[in-house]
Amino acid sequence: MQMALTAGVNGSRMDTLDAAPVAVACYAQRFTVTYEYQVHFTERLFEPANSLLADVVERLEPERRHRCLVFIDQGLLDSRPELPDEITAYARHHWARLALVAPPITVPGSERIKNELFCIEQIQRQVFEHGIDRHSYVIAIGGGAVLDAVGLVAATSHRGVRLIRVPTTVLSQNDSGVGVKNGINLYGVKNFYGTFAPPFAVLNDVDLLTPLAERDKVAGMAEAVKVALIRDGSFFAWLERAADDLITFRRPALVAMIQRCAELHMRQIAHGGDPFETGSARPLDYGHWSAHKLESLTKHHVRHGEAVAIGIALDARYSVLAGLLAEGQEERICALLEHLGFRLWHPALEAKRSDGSVALLEGLREFREHLGGELTVTLLEGIGRGIEVHEIDETRMLAAMRWLQARDGTP
Ligand SMILES: NC(=O)c1ccc[n+]([C@@H]2O[C@H](COP(=O)([O-])OP(=O)(O)OC[C@H]3O[C@@H](n4cnc5c(N)ncnc54)[C@H](O)[C@@H]3O)[C@@H](O)[C@H]2O)c1
Ligand SMILES: [Zn+2]
Repeated sequence: MQMALTAGVNGSRMDTLDAAPVAVACYAQRFTVTYEYQVHFTERLFEPANSLLADVVERLEPERRHRCLVFIDQGLLDSRPELPDEITAYARHHWARLALVAPPITVPGSERIKNELFCIEQIQRQVFEHGIDRHSYVIAIGGGAVLDAVGLVAATSHRGVRLIRVPTTVLSQNDSGVGVKNGINLYGVKNFYGTFAPPFAVLNDVDLLTPLAERDKVAGMAEAVKVALIRDGSFFAWLERAADDLITFRRPALVAMIQRCAELHMRQIAHGGDPFETGSARPLDYGHWSAHKLESLTKHHVRHGEAVAIGIALDARYSVLAGLLAEGQEERICALLEHLGFRLWHPALEAKRSDGSVALLEGLREFREHLGGELTVTLLEGIGRGIEVHEIDETRMLAAMRWLQARDGTP
């Protein structure tokens, strides 16, 4: 009997079964997966009159009751102890569409949740014990660290359950929360363990930022300066004009800054050509090779955003020394960062390894290793124009560092 296989794999014809078997073969497999998620900006998210969350959970399957498991950042809870009750009342009000499988669960905030593996295990266990499946929702409410950690568990439990992010810091609303990455720190390396996993939706509520410490409000602004510098010179000029309103956290300025920054990040992810960073470039990580290292060197006493501000300033000065950026522009960048409240020096920048070399420079190797391939660092050739380079001259980088130190007035 002759059995002809007419179906091929992506157009390649498979041989008929009665032809002589071929021991060595290669079938080309290729498919495309489209991702789509909405990033909403709202106010008073958990007021029963605001139906956004209930609308979002039923987007794909209306007229069903959707099971949700909520995790809340301890840091947020300390300032908003009534939040779990508000969420429970919200679910009760929208009971026909939304069911909490358990009262909201508190998780540690800040880098602690990303540094301790047992935190991940505990979140996993909750997902398991409450029977969260691929049609249920994990709702993560918190800063970037909580979203990264809970996001990792959501992405890996049952090979991926739906995640709704509710970012509650400036940084997570304008940067990390709207993106496609999650992860935790392992072996002292930032984000060593994680996945690329787009969320189901992101709900940014400006009211949730109110209790945030001033230090954390300011820290998140570094990412706005970063994305403006690499992508949008007019946004940078707007940040300069709006700086007085931003440092007093005036709501219209804060909302405008967060929305523009989120938009630029989202555009880069969707249209930058490499959303899952398979190449060697990480354009959104301008200023980050040193920032990540500085965070580790200070055992995370320096906030991510604070370290990014220093990284931005360092690479701006290096860009000038490398002849890429016009002299004086680095000063303009530093002036904006300082106006926003950042200090552009930290003693850990000078930390030495046992062989006497500057520990910060290790960050370049770690940055390359994170993606593999050749070293690719984004520098500046103008305000609003990033440029990728594949080599960093360490002597020049040390000169940039000394320039920052001298500006700071530190001996
Ligand atoms: N996944 C990504 O693409 C991505 C991108 C950038 C940064 N990140 C990660 O994000 C993390 C930093 O996030 P972050 O800047 O949001 O800091 P964070 O998550 O460390 O939060 C800072 C502090 O604020 C507290 N907090 C959170 N919300 C609060 C609120 N509304 N009121 C009061 N306190 C609140 C937290 O408990 C914590 O103590 C880092 O781990 C960084 O690596 C991830
Ligand atoms: Zn960042």
